[in-house]
Amino acid sequence: MALTGKTEIEAEIKKALEKPGVKEMNIDDLKDAVEISDNIYWVGERTNSVLERNIYLRVFKNAGQSINMVIDPGPPEDLDILTRKAGKIIGDIRNIHIAFINHQDPDVGMNAAYLQRMRSKMMVMATDDTWRLIRFYGLNQQYFKSVNSFKGYQVVLPTGHALKFIPTPFCHFKGACMLYDIESRILFSGDLLGGTGGASGLYATDANWEGVQIFHQLYMPIKEAIQRAIDAIWALEPKPIAIAPQHGGILQGAVMEQFLERLYRLPVGLDLLREDKVKFAYINAINNILHEIKSKIGESFFAKVQKKFHIDGSFPDLIKLKEDMVVDISVDAMTGFKIFVNALTVEGETQEIKNILEMLVVRGLLDNNLPLMEFHKDEEFDEVELFEA
Ligand SMILES: [Fe+2]
Ligand SMILES: [Fe+2]
Repeated sequence: MALTGKTEIEAEIKKALEKPGVKEMNIDDLKDAVEISDNIYWVGERTNSVLERNIYLRVFKNAGQSINMVIDPGPPEDLDILTRKAGKIIGDIRNIHIAFINHQDPDVGMNAAYLQRMRSKMMVMATDDTWRLIRFYGLNQQYFKSVNSFKGYQVVLPTGHALKFIPTPFCHFKGACMLYDIESRILFSGDLLGGTGGASGLYATDANWEGVQIFHQLYMPIKEAIQRAIDAIWALEPKPIAIAPQHGGILQGAVMEQFLERLYRLPVGLDLLREDKVKFAYINAINNILHEIKSKIGESFFAKVQKKFHIDGSFPDLIKLKEDMVVDISVDAMTGFKIFVNALTVEGETQEIKNILEMLVVRGLLDNNLPLMEFHKDEEFDEVELFEA
């Protein structure tokens, strides 16, 4: 069912928000399964641990036929809770027909191996990349259905329900893939949009952001990967009403929109490593140079230079000093270094001091494996004929 009119969509959102699970829930409310949308159940657990797993059960029903699918069945320590909660809904855990697995991590899909032991023909659905690793859990190749084999990454089940698969490469695994349940408009996103802590309830509030930020900064490799995935979410038709990640709170409404926006700009993984490493090297170079200035040129010259770092108070200092040491650069590191070099130009200094300063700057950069600045490069010097031909 495709919704096109604005009022129709608003009515749908309102209906979704009226679901019993949407209200603020505490740990006691979460002892049983929660129906988050018609025939979609949260069957995970909340114990106030740092990284909690969400497991979802989707029951597709039509004309007396039922297909039961578990999404990200979790690690062995969640098998009891899954068995108990799903069993209450579908009678027996052996009635699970399909296990969808977002990516290969044990916290996501290891239980699929136990489920397939109990029902040998239970189908595992994942991408080829994910399969190549999860098969080592002891899963049966004969009952693997590759997401990559579906034309246009879409499939219609015998009950008439359409599913769409959205690969999210490098979020955080190359073969990670989200599952979009078109009828309910719930997007099962795996680790993407997952979060640590702060999510004792089932639905994310603004308080969950910190946990989402920490989780992504630790586990997502690079901002571009997240941006690609979010672009794919924004392109979905119809738009998702809720995003159900494998960790943390379920997102919907304004919180969902805000988190997507914030995540789009968040530096993560390599972005942080790269920034920090370069910045640290420049700060180190500046501190080495300042130390040498003190001992080779003298305290009074050092004081003159230091004075230049302090801006008039109307604007933050770009180079932050603490007890004669630079502790931070608030612009990008290379720009900060250039500002520092400019501050070394003290009017009326002798050529000898200028030469020492230049030598200190070159050494500071080279000792910290940083590139020389334009004016240090030797291209500007003419070739000198040293020996007669
Ligand atoms: Fe993961
Ligand atoms: Fe995970």
